[in-house]
Amino acid sequence: MDLNRPASPLQNKATNRKALAATAIATALLLSACGGGAAPQGAEQAAAADPASGANASGAVNICGVKDASGIYKGTAEAFTKANGKVTAKYTEIGATTDEARTQIVQRLEGKSTECDLFLTDVIWTSEFASQGWLLDQTKLVEANKDRLIPSTVETTKYQDKYWASPFFTNAGLIYYQKDKVAKPETWQQLYAEAAKAPGDGYVYQGKQYEGLTVNFLEMLYSAGGEVLNDQGEVKIDSKETREVLNFMSDGLKNGSADRAVLTYNEDPARLAYESGDFGYQRNWPHVYRLLNATPLASSFGVAPLPAWEGGKASGVLGGWNLAISAHSTNQAGAVAFIDFATTPEWQKHVAMDYSQAPVNEAAYSDAAVLQKMPFATELLASVKGAKPRPISPVYPQISQAIYKNVYAVLSGTTSTEDAVKKMADEITTAKASF
Ligand code: GLC
Repeated sequence: MDLNRPASPLQNKATNRKALAATAIATALLLSACGGGAAPQGAEQAAAADPASGANASGAVNICGVKDASGIYKGTAEAFTKANGKVTAKYTEIGATTDEARTQIVQRLEGKSTECDLFLTDVIWTSEFASQGWLLDQTKLVEANKDRLIPSTVETTKYQDKYWASPFFTNAGLIYYQKDKVAKPETWQQLYAEAAKAPGDGYVYQGKQYEGLTVNFLEMLYSAGGEVLNDQGEVKIDSKETREVLNFMSDGLKNGSADRAVLTYNEDPARLAYESGDFGYQRNWPHVYRLLNATPLASSFGVAPLPAWEGGKASGVLGGWNLAISAHSTNQAGAVAFIDFATTPEWQKHVAMDYSQAPVNEAAYSDAAVLQKMPFATELLASVKGAKPRPISPVYPQISQAIYKNVYAVLSGTTSTEDAVKKMADEITTAKASF
């Protein structure tokens, strides 16, 4: 399958209806097996997870998701298994990037596979998965924990006034910089200028054709004051800010600020390239902090919030991963028990201390032990709270594809900025009209 063209059940209305019908039949079978009632359809009729069920759970739970670069997924599964004593959890990696994981998960859900009880879901998938009726409704579970969670993380789990997943960790981009070579950047313009000064000062980021490129582009676009959709949901990407950011990124590749190899990088290759010591700056997520600390660069790197656009303000893009229970899980109680464990205030501290990921539990950021292991926790909380969401839509994968394909075409020199902006806007409008 061509991963640059996400095969979404929402690509057109006909396939969407077919997928909804298939889901309805599958859920009806499931419900009739449990003595349930009428055939459900999509989100409206999804079954709800029972918060009390976790207490008496037993058996095995399989959690599926993206490559475990920080070790947090396997680590949490092991810690849970040890602590619980009755339920055994394991983590199954099904994709190197978020896009690949989504393709794998959609295939399983469409095929009504019972392989995975829980999915690690990227914050951008909630509307799509919930609208298909693929997930259990977790409203009661989330309501019970909501007071201690960062509000933006709860929002990422919402679709049609219900919550479809429990927030596990949140995310915001950071700049890692080599303190002995380059300055802490205040603006993107300053970062790019510094990075061009000497060959070993360059900038690495995620520039491959995938979701990560959408994020890298939007981080600059948002701080330059641009947007994809306005509050009314109208397409606003055909703007002077989009042109400015595209030209800036493309010039940066031409003048050597950024290494051209970034056009092949997702998160891990960018991190590994930076670990060679041959670069000044790297844009990546918080988990890289712990990994960099285990390299010879440990004493020479600094970590900073994303810079501002010159004349604008700093703005990030909200990332993060949630725990969603598959509508086809054969151990829903075990899945609830796992969620109960992963979202406790105690485990949320480990999210930061052991994996340098960003907890969803706000109190964790001011905990003394967390601050000791993650000295930038206060800045990280500010970054997370200041980060803006990506467009919220059941057809988000198509919207994102329109962004990263066209941004990539400009960066790789195959399309002009002008053509790319027009195409991006047209493709986003078409994607929105398809649902
Ligand atoms: C990180 C973020 C996720 C984002 C992805 C892009 O995993 O947490 O939200 O979509 O990176 O590559």
